[in-house]
Amino acid sequence: MRILVVGGGGREHALCWAIAASPLCEALYCAPGNAGIAAEAECVAISAEDVPGLVKFAQEKSIDFVVVGPEAPLVAGLVDALKTAGIKAFGPSAAAARLEGSKGFMKDFFARHSIPTAAYGRFRDAAAAKAFIDQKGAPIVVKTDGLAAGKGVTVCQSISEAHAAVDAAMTGKAFGSAGDELVIEEFLAGEEVSFFALVDGTHAVPLVAAQDHKAVGDGDTGPNTGGMGAYSPTPLVDAALQQKIMDDVIMPTVRGMAAEGSPFVGVLFAGLMITKDGPKTLEYNVRFGDPECEALMVRVKSDILPALIAAADGELAQFDLRWTDDAAVVVVMAAKGYPGSYQKGTVIRGLDRAAAIPGVSIFHAGTAKKGDDIVATGGRVLAITARGRTVTEAQQKAYQAVDQIDWPEGFCRRDIGWRAIAREKTAG
Ligand code: AMP
Ligand code: GLY
Repeated sequence: MRILVVGGGGREHALCWAIAASPLCEALYCAPGNAGIAAEAECVAISAEDVPGLVKFAQEKSIDFVVVGPEAPLVAGLVDALKTAGIKAFGPSAAAARLEGSKGFMKDFFARHSIPTAAYGRFRDAAAAKAFIDQKGAPIVVKTDGLAAGKGVTVCQSISEAHAAVDAAMTGKAFGSAGDELVIEEFLAGEEVSFFALVDGTHAVPLVAAQDHKAVGDGDTGPNTGGMGAYSPTPLVDAALQQKIMDDVIMPTVRGMAAEGSPFVGVLFAGLMITKDGPKTLEYNVRFGDPECEALMVRVKSDILPALIAAADGELAQFDLRWTDDAAVVVVMAAKGYPGSYQKGTVIRGLDRAAAIPGVSIFHAGTAKKGDDIVATGGRVLAITARGRTVTEAQQKAYQAVDQIDWPEGFCRRDIGWRAIAREKTAG
């Protein structure tokens, strides 16, 4: 088969790495890809958001199957446009991608289908939003309705902080039009889990769960980012909790989307807070998590490509995926300053030394080749991924690899996996 992967981050590098290993894959392209992806796929200079450009390329190259990584092209209708052109793709239609594209749609959908989530209000008016905040009290969470690259959420410890978040989004336009409407919701205490299921419109197959580290600093301090690291499995999700999440969250979503005329096809990624009252859904994403995908791709033993195709074909009913018992830890290396402003074009050395460590895979998130050098082109730049028998062992290997990398303008968190490692210590 001739395959096109859309996107150019660590998630897409991991997907390309897994798909390239499939005996079904004859030719692999990635648009736009990056310097690391170029080792697995032919990178083509088409933006992930250029829907007509991608369709044209897929037609010209007789692509059999397109795997869409990021949310923006899904929300923009790439899968619909490919379908119209007769090209099969993995990912939801624009209508189904509203689960991620509009938090207001998502929250109202949860209410219609009794899916457990935080109590909330939707606002297009700053004064009304502030009155709601005054009434509910702090802590409270302010979210932009639209996509804001994972940064549109402010967890506010005080009422004044919440008012400031409303002003920044609505008056200050800190997130552009994504902040014209806000969702304000109850603060949920608990531990967060990233839960994934492949969905074919009707059936769902759970994948292994992971935990992400959204805050930029050690000890989960500082502003939220797109994700500074991840690990899988998480001891929090045992077989019983997995079943409960499938029964209470994933399957009602799959049935609800089908009943409302926009069946979901692709990977459904639920961000769940495991509270003392059980799992509650913080958000849906309509794609693999980044950096969670990197952890999943090094843990999956089955060929991932037929599973993605079965989802697109509506044939997941009898599908099963096998996973290694090994743990995986992903440490993201980002440009100093991220998630604020940062320098681009700095040179990264030592990648080969790091990749030579057994059990380590270096996925590129934001790199380009400049002459013989690899340079950083984004905020999140590398996803250093390691496998080990335990999270503790995988973490040691991941940091061993990080320490081989010579990139003075970069940084990473030094505590990825800390919750699982603390549990592994207690368990002896
Ligand atoms: P989201 O993009 O909705 O997942 O939000 C980003 C992050 O903000 C989440 O991963 C949580 O850490 C935090 N967050 C979002 N909503 C809530 C909530 N209702 N209660 C507590 N934390 C939240
Ligand atoms: N790692 C969280 C996300 O991909 O949204």
